Amino acid sequence: MSFYPLLNQMAKNMNSETVLRAQDIYKSYHKDRIEVPVLRGVDFEVTAGLVTALVGRSGSGKSTLMHLLATLDQPDRGEIHFQGERIDDAPRSRRDRYRNHDIGIIFQFYHLLPELSAIENVLAPTMIGKSAWNFFRHRKEAKRRAEAMLDRVGLLHRAAHKPAEMSGGEMQRAAIARALMTDPTLLLADEPTGNLDTETGLEILKLLTELNQDDGLTILMITHDNSIAESADRCHRMQDGQLQQGMPELLIA
Ligand SMILES: Nc1ncnc2c1ncn2[C@@H]1O[C@H](COP(=O)(O)OP(=O)(O)O)[C@@H](O)[C@H]1O
Ligand SMILES: [Mg+2]
Repeated sequence: MSFYPLLNQMAKNMNSETVLRAQDIYKSYHKDRIEVPVLRGVDFEVTAGLVTALVGRSGSGKSTLMHLLATLDQPDRGEIHFQGERIDDAPRSRRDRYRNHDIGIIFQFYHLLPELSAIENVLAPTMIGKSAWNFFRHRKEAKRRAEAMLDRVGLLHRAAHKPAEMSGGEMQRAAIARALMTDPTLLLADEPTGNLDTETGLEILKLLTELNQDDGLTILMITHDNSIAESADRCHRMQDGQLQQGMPELLIA
């Protein structure tokens, strides 16, 4: 934790580089030939070095937006730019690299592979996209980094445990360590505390806050929980398919 929270906050406000920008995003789903509009002209941006919260009721379209930002799905209209580069309609190979290297993603239900131990789960993204030979050559280095990431999230003592042998908080720590493996520019977190009891949720929030303050990690945190959103530097509230924006204390009544 920083000893100089005020200086830290000032430094944060001075750095205003935009990491991710969504412009006029529209997205509908189609169910039984009925169009269900979910996002209706969403505009927003994520600033480097900050924790930005996206808050809204269940069903308001937060995960839909996060899927678009992660290029897991495409908007019907609008554009998404990562560090000034349009990413939503980039070639598949570029979108794969964006997902595997530029951003890290964590989810409410962790999405760990049940057959693998914590450290194997953390190593999994490093194996993707590498030939067996290439992975073999770099395995020692990768393993050292995986151990360092597990240590960073306070889970090194559970490295050999499988998900079924871990608590919810431990599984989320493993998922965070996995997301950090490629040293992402931006961490997208969809309801990172949504499946945890209040106390464990606060521990995960503290870890994410430390990753931001100590390591400068830029975080977009999606949550339906106002008290979680309150801890962010910036807040966007999803309402009627659009976003209202401002400081958390102004948006969260
Ligand atoms: N694949 C889908 N097909 C049809 N409707 C969907 C699909 N995914 C989400 N929806 C609908 O879109 C709306 C927004 O969902 P979602 O983005 O998951 O909201 P949130 O994450 O804020 O809870 C909901 O009404 C949901 O039922
Ligand atoms: Mg959701």
